[in-house]
Parts: sequence; C-alpha cells; structure tokens
Amino acid sequence: MDFSIKAFDTKNTLAAAKSGCVAVAVFENKKLSQAAKALDQTGEITAALKSGDITGKAGSTLLLRGVAGVSAARVLLVGMGADEVVSEKNFVTAVNATLKAFASLGAADAIIAFPTTEVKERTPEWALQTLVVAANEAEFRSDAQKSKKEPAYSGVRKITVAVPLANTQTKASLAQAIAIANGMKLTKELGNLSPNVCTPTYLANVARKLADDFGFEIEVLERKQLEALKMGSFLAVAKGSEEAPKFIVLKHMGGGKKDAPTVLVGKGITFDTGGISIKAGPGMDEMKYDMCGAGSVLGTFRAIGEMGLKLNVIGIVAACENMPSGRATKPGDIVTSMNGLTIEILNTDAEGRLILCDALTYAERFKPAAVVDIATLTGACVISLGHHNSGLFTRHDAAHDALAEELLQAGKEAGDGAWRLPIGEQYNEQLKSNFADLANIGTPGGASITAACFLENFTRNYTWAHLDIAGTAWKSGAQKGATGRPVPLLTTFLMNRV
Ligand code: BES
Ligand code: MN
Ligand code: ZN
Repeated sequence: MDFSIKAFDTKNTLAAAKSGCVAVAVFENKKLSQAAKALDQTGEITAALKSGDITGKAGSTLLLRGVAGVSAARVLLVGMGADEVVSEKNFVTAVNATLKAFASLGAADAIIAFPTTEVKERTPEWALQTLVVAANEAEFRSDAQKSKKEPAYSGVRKITVAVPLANTQTKASLAQAIAIANGMKLTKELGNLSPNVCTPTYLANVARKLADDFGFEIEVLERKQLEALKMGSFLAVAKGSEEAPKFIVLKHMGGGKKDAPTVLVGKGITFDTGGISIKAGPGMDEMKYDMCGAGSVLGTFRAIGEMGLKLNVIGIVAACENMPSGRATKPGDIVTSMNGLTIEILNTDAEGRLILCDALTYAERFKPAAVVDIATLTGACVISLGHHNSGLFTRHDAAHDALAEELLQAGKEAGDGAWRLPIGEQYNEQLKSNFADLANIGTPGGASITAACFLENFTRNYTWAHLDIAGTAWKSGAQKGATGRPVPLLTTFLMNRV
C-alpha cells in the first residue's frame, strides 16, 4: 500500500481532486462532515442521506458514482455514528468499513478525507496510524507456506490522506505510522510461520538480515558461549531440544554515545510443548506463537530502524525450543542461573521465566536506562485480561510507577493497550522452595503475578517492566493469526523517550 498526505481546503480543492474515489464521513440524522459538504455541490449527497440508502451508523457505507461537480470517479460515503466529535470506536469501525469497500473497488487510488482532528481524546497522529495499520491489515496474507497463494489484494493501492495542513510534522507522522505497520508485518509473519521453519536459527538469521538492512550491530551467542556465561537456567530449557539455542543481541545506537540504552528482552520459545510437564494435545499448535515476545522485539527494531530513531536501544532475544526428550530437564531438577540464584524447576512448562531470567541478568552489562521484557508468559494472563490488554508489571516505587505510566500512555496513544497488575513481597513468597533459592512456579493463585515476581528477582539492578502478551499476541479460532502486538506500544514508548 502506498500512502501519502495532502492538504485540501474543504471548499473546492477536494471536489476538484482527480482520483478513483474520495471517502468522506457522514453522520446519523443526515448530518454531513465538512469534507462531505465540500463534495455536495448539487445536493446529491444530501439526497442520498435523505433517501435512507445510508444510515450514517458507524461502518455503514454507500458508493456513489459520477457525483456532479466532483472530479473523482466515485464518492464513498462512510457512516461515523451520531456524534460529530467521533468516538475512537466509531472511527476504527468506519476505517475498517472503508478499507473493506476499497478492497473490492475497481479504482487504483483513493483519497480519504476523514475528520482526523475530531476524534475524541485522540490525536490526528493516532488517526493517521489507525488508517495505515488497518490498510496494511487489509492487504496482509498469511499464505507464505501455501502452494496455492490466496488471491492477492487487488483493490485500492494508493491512498492519499487529506489533512488540514501537510507540513514536515504530519509527513513525519505518516512515515512513523508506516514504519510501525512494517514492523507489525514482520512480527506477524514470524509468528505465523510454522515452528519447523521458524526455529531459533531462523530468528537469528532474520535478526542478521535486519542488522544488514538497517545498520544495527548484532551478536548471536551460541551454546558454548552461553555455557561460559553460566546461563544454567536458559540452557536447562534448551537442552531438551535438537535445535541449537540462539541468544541474539541487536544494538541500534541512534542516541548520544554516552546515553544509557533502553533494553527490550523478548521470549523466543519457538515451540513450547511444555517439556516433560507436557501440555495437552488440543490447540498445542498455537504454542508456535510462544516466540511472539521475540518477534515483537524484532518488529520494533524493524520500525525504529526505518525511522532512524535517535535513541540507543538494545534488543535481546533468548531463543530455544521447549521439548521433552531423554536430555530434557525433569520436574525437581535444580539449576543455577547466571546471577547465582538456584532454581527448582517444579514444572518444565514454566520455561519462559527460565530463559528470561538469564537474559535479564545479561542485560545488566549495558547499564540500561530501563529494561522491558515482552513474553507470552502465562495462560493466566488471558484469564485475567482477555485479549484486549497486555499485562504490565513493575515494582511499586516512584521510578517504576513512572516507567509503568510511560508504557500505559504509549499503549493508549498507539491503540495497543496494557493494564497494570500488582507484584510484591506477598506474591514473591509463593515462589519459596524447600531445596533451592526459588521455585519456578508459585503456589496456586495469581499465576501471572507470581511469574512476574519470579522475573523481578533478576532485575534488582535497574529499572524494569514486564509485559505479558499471552492474550494479545495472536488470535485463535477462524481468525487464527499473529496480531503484530505490542509493536505499536513498544515503538511509541521508544519514540516518546527521544
Ligand atoms: N507459553 C506458555 C503460556 C501460554 C499458555 C500463553 C497458553 C498463551 C496461552 C507458558 O510457557 C506456560 O506454559 N505457562 C504455564 C505456567 C504454569 C506452568 C505455571 C501456564 O500458563 O499454564
Ligand atoms: Mn510453557
Ligand atoms: Zn511458553
């Protein structure tokens, strides 16, 4: 999809614009938006509303051809609800309906002239990003591994967004929105790939390619090096598999030489069988998505690389498979993590925290300004928050409250929400082991929280937050597929740190 922005005055230039289609908003009770009024030169749009052919309800559409006084071949009327101060939900619904209509239009190009400055509690940048992300979603195909490809998207391919003022700032906002959409696309493709293809080695190769394309520094640590670093916890998970573990470190040094970096740490379990504590059969295929934390780190790097973000960012991906085998870790095994804490592995299916704890210890060497880990960590997070918000966990002190606020705010701005849950000493006590410093599962209750508390033990030397994306990284059922979340949240968070 090709995007550009252009300023139109709502009087005559929009009516005079040559295009395959102009999409404008109309409202319930037969009200026209400013842009619709500009196209209503001879009252045809008013007449269409009067006729009842379009209700104006959010998402309703009506295509008119050859509207008198309008140079564009078609006018698409799009309902945005009752209120001219548009709700976020109605705007999103209208955008999706527009792109659905565009997908089956005989036009190659179109102008979208929506009231992007009139969305309740949302900025024009948000509206622009919503448009770009939705357009890329409409174009997205998950047929990389099908021998017969799905019919390619054949609708409108060139969209001009009408804005009141097209200056360098609005152009930068558009470029940022496109970069985020491209990052999400990579994250989705990696998530959807089958686990026999998307192995730790594959992720390392994707990271190398990204480093090449965008000028990141990269280092991929192999098993021997991980042994030398004493990553006993990560290696305990990796050793059940024939696939070689990979520990990927990407550096985007876009900031000042001496500026402390922001570090992202992604869980990259390319398949989670549960190990010896094996999972139930039905739906187990979805555990190919257990690398979506890693995928979101790579997608976010894709986005900040394209933007040339002026910030120092380090991405760490701990990648391996969690498999049962003669060499696999057994329940009751005790391992020593990189920071010296011993861990009793009571359940080999709680493997995410076992690989992340060593990655979080490794992150100390960068003297980070902040560390955010991203993981499909617990099924319990899907129970508590469903599929709308990612779970956010940090310590409860002033510095961490500020980091939590930054992440929550970024999620709001990006339409990629998170919700904070508590951690603390009482929950931490649920992780006591009779035989090691720490058990890898908690006593029953609050499983997402005790998982976060486990990680907290390894993050005491810097400011840290944890995002549990088990409910937001992919969709199940007929619409099964990765969502590209939380790339918008993470990228916006980093952009706001510049
Ligand atoms: N990758 C899973 C978490 C998960 C499960 C995410 C289902 C999304 C859907 C993780 O490794 C896991 O298995 N967690 C266990 C932890 C338990 C053993 C304490 C879980 O959530 O059941
Ligand atoms: Mn697991
Ligand atoms: Zn897992």
